[in-house]
Amino acid sequence: MIVFLNGKFVSENDAVVGVNDAGFLYGHGVYETLRAFDGKLKFLDEHLDRLNESAAAFGLEVPYSKNEIKGFLEELVGKNLEERKDLRIRITLTAGEGSFYTGESGQPTFLITTRIIYEENVDPVSVATLEIERTYPQIKSTSMISNILAKNHARSQGAFESIMIDRRGRATEGTFTNLFIVKNGVLKTPGQWMLSGITRKMILELAPEIMPVEECDIFREELYDADEILLTNSVKGIVSVREVDGRVVGDGEMGKFTQRIQKKYLEVLHQL
Ligand SMILES: Cc1ncc(COP(=O)(O)O)c(C=O)c1O
Repeated sequence: MIVFLNGKFVSENDAVVGVNDAGFLYGHGVYETLRAFDGKLKFLDEHLDRLNESAAAFGLEVPYSKNEIKGFLEELVGKNLEERKDLRIRITLTAGEGSFYTGESGQPTFLITTRIIYEENVDPVSVATLEIERTYPQIKSTSMISNILAKNHARSQGAFESIMIDRRGRATEGTFTNLFIVKNGVLKTPGQWMLSGITRKMILELAPEIMPVEECDIFREELYDADEILLTNSVKGIVSVREVDGRVVGDGEMGKFTQRIQKKYLEVLHQL
């Protein structure tokens, strides 16, 4: 695979990031993950806007304009695309040789990497809940301690994903997904303490044609009692949940709403 590192396209085996990189030493960095569907980048403006917002919140400046980054991405996708395969793309920006400790600013590190998506599970998944919070959940930061602990928990439970529960008992999001539930014909999703996912925003735009939508707190017990549960992100799209902490959701199959919104989402995605 070719990567884009600090202005150059290089083989990933030759790409070198310094040992003093503040991303490596302190987790002082931000990132974005997106998908190229059959070579086409979707929701690119939204991802690049969020990259700028995360960077600004973390005291970092993106060293290229949006148009420049679009150009790099298109070139990189062209270099790495295999026929009829999708790519998972990650843009990472760190403080580079800068130091939050001394306040010295240095050259940032700007890296774009890609992975081919070979096969995907489309079956409903199981999830496990865990009391854990992300600090500054609106920032897509490379400091990922909570995500890592939560993902480890999921793995230890044989689950695909963990749902994070905050100190007030509210379910906020997954380790790399946003959360929705359907209960009595209403679609609900947390309105705060989570990342403003780009897929989440899309679902919120499309769903009212199917059912009423509420942004509200969702407590753990409501997960156990939900008719349907969905997780969303830019790489996986919509994932249906069949089990939470060993309790079956609905009849354990992908629910009716999930099927309908999935269809709409894919229609919109392929029109873009
Ligand atoms: C913590 C977290 N929540 C939600 C999401 C979903 O966001 P998006 O739909 O923009 O990919 C992600 C994406 O990776 C994430 O890391």
